[in-house]
Amino acid sequence: MTRQDFSQAMTIKLPTKLPPYPEFITEYKGRKIRRTPKRKYQLSKTELIIALKNSLRYVPEELHEDLAQEFLTELSMIGDEGRGRIYGYRFRPPGAITAKPIDQYKGVLEARALQLMLDNNVDFDIALYPYELVTYGECGQVCQNWMQFQLIKKYLEVMSDEQTLVVSSGHPVGLFPSRRDAPRAISTNGLMVGEFDTPEPNDIPFLNAVAMGVTNYGQMTAGGWMYIGPQGIVHGTYITLLNAGRKYLDIPLGQNLGGKVYLTSGLGGMSGAQGKAVEIAGGIGVIAEVDAQAIKTRKDQKWVKLVTADLDEVFQWVEEYRTSREPTSIAYHGNIVDLWEYVVKNKIQIELASDQTSCNKVHGGGYWPAGMPYEEAKHLLETNLEAFKVEVNKSLKRQFELIQAATRQGTHFWDYGNSFMVAVYEAAKVKEIKTKEGEFIFPSYVEHLMGPLYFDYGYGPFRWVCLSGKGEELKATDEAAMSCIDPDRRTQDYDNYHWIKNAWENKMVVGSQARILYQDAEGRVRIALKFNEMVRNGVIGPVMLGRDHHDTGGTDSPYRETANIRDGSFVTSDMAHQCWAGNAARGMTLCVLSNGGGVGTGRAINGGFGLVLDGSKRIDEIIRIAVDWDTMGGVARRAWARNEHAIETAAKWNERVGSSGHITLPHIPRKGLVEKLVEKAIKQRRLQDSSD
Ligand SMILES: NC(=O)c1ccc[n+]([C@@H]2O[C@H](COP(=O)([O-])OP(=O)(O)OC[C@H]3O[C@@H](n4cnc5c(N)ncnc54)[C@H](O)[C@@H]3O)[C@@H](O)[C@H]2O)c1
Repeated sequence: MTRQDFSQAMTIKLPTKLPPYPEFITEYKGRKIRRTPKRKYQLSKTELIIALKNSLRYVPEELHEDLAQEFLTELSMIGDEGRGRIYGYRFRPPGAITAKPIDQYKGVLEARALQLMLDNNVDFDIALYPYELVTYGECGQVCQNWMQFQLIKKYLEVMSDEQTLVVSSGHPVGLFPSRRDAPRAISTNGLMVGEFDTPEPNDIPFLNAVAMGVTNYGQMTAGGWMYIGPQGIVHGTYITLLNAGRKYLDIPLGQNLGGKVYLTSGLGGMSGAQGKAVEIAGGIGVIAEVDAQAIKTRKDQKWVKLVTADLDEVFQWVEEYRTSREPTSIAYHGNIVDLWEYVVKNKIQIELASDQTSCNKVHGGGYWPAGMPYEEAKHLLETNLEAFKVEVNKSLKRQFELIQAATRQGTHFWDYGNSFMVAVYEAAKVKEIKTKEGEFIFPSYVEHLMGPLYFDYGYGPFRWVCLSGKGEELKATDEAAMSCIDPDRRTQDYDNYHWIKNAWENKMVVGSQARILYQDAEGRVRIALKFNEMVRNGVIGPVMLGRDHHDTGGTDSPYRETANIRDGSFVTSDMAHQCWAGNAARGMTLCVLSNGGGVGTGRAINGGFGLVLDGSKRIDEIIRIAVDWDTMGGVARRAWARNEHAIETAAKWNERVGSSGHITLPHIPRKGLVEKLVEKAIKQRRLQDSSD
């Protein structure tokens, strides 16, 4: 066969006409459009050649002369368009891309819904770096390049509902015959063979594979096509803060954080939710942020109320709001270390505290050192990485010392899943951050709060999108969801009831008409069935159901989602794989499995789903078995890890479902039995304690 024959063997492909080169706009609705920094890689000459050939695979040969040169520029580090990756800018659909009402897309219903979700993830209003297909989390991409984006869309437009689109790290492998009840799209991102699955700072094999165009860092809902803007994080942060108040400050149910201060850092992608969340929880937020642009975004959005670079002013405001018990959020334009210095020196009472700098990229611009202006720090990072690292490590060490001092004054501090404790330990080499037993002295929010109180019960970030794009339909679903929750059943139900009750008023929608609502398995099924019935009765149009991957069962991530798994199985990722496979087997519309997430490659496997509610009885059945499995598979694993609340939840499920299902539960030895036995055996040298 000739090269031309290969091209003729395809009917679904990019056109032979060269699209016009895009005009890059720098501002949208008064906000700056951000562009990715230059991304690193180390490719040999042979690999560089392969990288270019790989990107040209999508493009008809007639265009190769022009595009080879253009793609080479993109792969280079030169000029504005040379950012170390081939994004294929020319193939980006021109203008603003936004989630349109479902009937404006072509294809079968499920395929149209997926196109809407894709568009939402690259919307100028939503995406962190929209021109580079990065939805959030610094490098979480929808797919690798715009050629893939266009092709995926083409496949979705023509596919039938008895076919499945297979997407491998953004690459549309093709359409394959399947069944009506099979997923319409199966997608994976960044899954590496173990030897090459190396987390930072040795992540070059992964970054090289990205630069060569053979893998994609999908984060969670970026490559999972289920991002709904910052709303998702606001709800999660809100319940984390409320539960922190209950656990550490004994705030009773029904009361909020009135008069209590939460001190933290970061007003970026996810961290930017902290101001809004603390206000919804009724408290006083004090948030340090070095980047004026990040502060402006949150101020314009009304997610922070007050802004100053004057520390005296920050704490005058704090005292005023403490007295009035009114909620507020204060952005301190400056370094978190300086904020802590002031607090400790002046013995200011701070009840709750955390940190949301991006310590998962601690030496790569995720954490900015104190003692120098932000712009100077950025310059140092670009010109002298070694000197930059020294400054970062010094800063982290000081921050940790100050936090320790504050906790002695009564502050409760937790790690927010941003690898802060790992960075202090590994980068800043502060050994006293660990206990004798090898655990960090400050818990992570999953270990103390989200894990035992939410994930172990099966509560997780359930979400939906009203595909008509109509706000009134979202309002109707809010009300319907609320009617499915009994606020008196559990604390979690109480919090979630109040969240959904106020969700419309809180004006959380950015992009598609979406809502997040933490629910357990029973609640998710009940709400999904109710929505499907509403679709059936014509009350609302079709709905895309899904969830964040930061959930009970979809994600194995020892530093975050599975941080409270203590039976040794936190090193495995069977649960995430089984959740994904089980969802596919039960007929979810979209099943995604990805490497990484907020903690970086090699540190997590995460999966998600999408299910289009079309009002049919067929979908009722899928809801009953698949939505339940998606959560209860995770509860089962958590129960097997001897997590008390998960055992309770699984036991109740066994009782409720009768002979239609059964979860294996652990037998728990009487307290002290095993401990005494092992201690004796070590003394007698029959077993050896390797920690000695
Ligand atoms: N919010 C959540 O629910 C949640 C959950 C899990 C993990 N996280 C983690 O939180 C971290 C932050 O996420 P993001 O998306 O907001 O990242 P981001 O990079 O968009 O935002 C971090 C912000 O911190 C600021 N910053 C860095 N160093 C600083 C310093 N020393 N002083 C003051 N400000 C500083 C940066 O300028 C930036 O705006 C990530 O590691 C993420 O994985 C958040």
